Amino acid sequence: METISIKLKPKKREVKIYSGTDAFIKASRLVNNVYIKKVVISNPTVWNKWEGYFKEHIKNFTLFLMPDGERFKNYKTVHKIYDFLVSISATRKSLIIAFGGGVIGDIAGFVASTYHRGIPIIHIPTTLLAQVDSSIGGKTGYNLKEGKNLIGSFYQPEFIISDPLFLDTLPQKEFLSGFAEVIKAGCIKDNKLFCLIEKNLEKVIRRDKHVLSNIITKAQKVKINVVQKDEREEGLRAILNFGHTLGHAIEVQKKWRVSHGFAVAAGIAFASFLSYKESGLSEEELLRILKLLKKVGYSLNYNLDKTQLGNVLLKDKKKKEETVEWVLLERIGKAIYGIKIDIEQIVHRIVEFENYLKHRKNFIS
Ligand SMILES: NC(=O)c1ccc[n+]([C@@H]2O[C@H](COP(=O)([O-])OP(=O)(O)OC[C@H]3O[C@@H](n4cnc5c(N)ncnc54)[C@H](O)[C@@H]3O)[C@@H](O)[C@H]2O)c1
Repeated sequence: METISIKLKPKKREVKIYSGTDAFIKASRLVNNVYIKKVVISNPTVWNKWEGYFKEHIKNFTLFLMPDGERFKNYKTVHKIYDFLVSISATRKSLIIAFGGGVIGDIAGFVASTYHRGIPIIHIPTTLLAQVDSSIGGKTGYNLKEGKNLIGSFYQPEFIISDPLFLDTLPQKEFLSGFAEVIKAGCIKDNKLFCLIEKNLEKVIRRDKHVLSNIITKAQKVKINVVQKDEREEGLRAILNFGHTLGHAIEVQKKWRVSHGFAVAAGIAFASFLSYKESGLSEEELLRILKLLKKVGYSLNYNLDKTQLGNVLLKDKKKKEETVEWVLLERIGKAIYGIKIDIEQIVHRIVEFENYLKHRKNFIS
């Protein structure tokens, strides 16, 4: 197990991540020793798989299970949790334990940030996405019917326990969906992480604990590094959106039938091509990225409807004024953000990218 620290400047707060093999066993002692009243928030999918193991290590808690699924990340669930906390007389000294994927972490985090004006929470993320991304950085929230994550807060947990053991039961589709964020981390800020993934791809896909643990810790450090410099998303934190601009358009055009990570992977592929055209990424590095994504099994092209694309991209909440801002790469491990490119140019580049993929088929697969 490795202990990594997120040092947040304004309030001089430090959030520790206990990360790696056996992290849960080791850090659960802290949970038992320090907190008396504990409320675990999870869902039946995760709980049915891990109840026995969880109870072996964490003692004396009450349990709230919310239904599984993004569609339950809403105010009704938030209010049910408030009611539950009131019914068990939870106070500001009680601890919430978010045990699950990003949905659980986001909603439990929001509840923790608002109940009694804020009570302590720890995250025990059980998906790859939650371990490398959503549990880190303090963003919490829930969805309105008008859009995702429209209500939320910034609220840091006491600490995070990230144990790769929990990934053992994660369906492969969910695993690969989270893995796109790991590849993203390498692309934007850690060339060594990218090389490590290239070199050990088969072991990662097989979920070899040693390699996986190493890669997860490195991806977590990328996110920590960015959040430490820009906790409130005022600038640099935008680089975490690499691949997400087109990724989001794919999700919308395909009516959310393409899972988030797969859409992001195709978004990374296009943003890398755009980087080759606009920001100096070499063709050799572009091909390495495309090759890696392809090898994992992601589709690089979803044949988007070009006539609708402008509207979809302009509605993206990350847009400023009438232009769409992109995160691009100068090289693997170095991203730049706030690059404005007009919509016609983007559509032209997408067509160009589709042709490029056809001509480079043999290089990429
Ligand atoms: N707060 C942030 O900074 C941030 C960042 C990125 C994403 N998010 C949010 O995260 C959410 C997506 O998170 P996610 O991808 O973890 O999805 P998720 O929480 O829906 O989990 C995916 C599926 O895997 C199941 N699952 C979780 N752990 C499991 C395990 N160990 N074994 C078997 N099944 C398991 C879940 O029950 C669910 O069915 C979205 O709501 C998104 O908005 C938040």
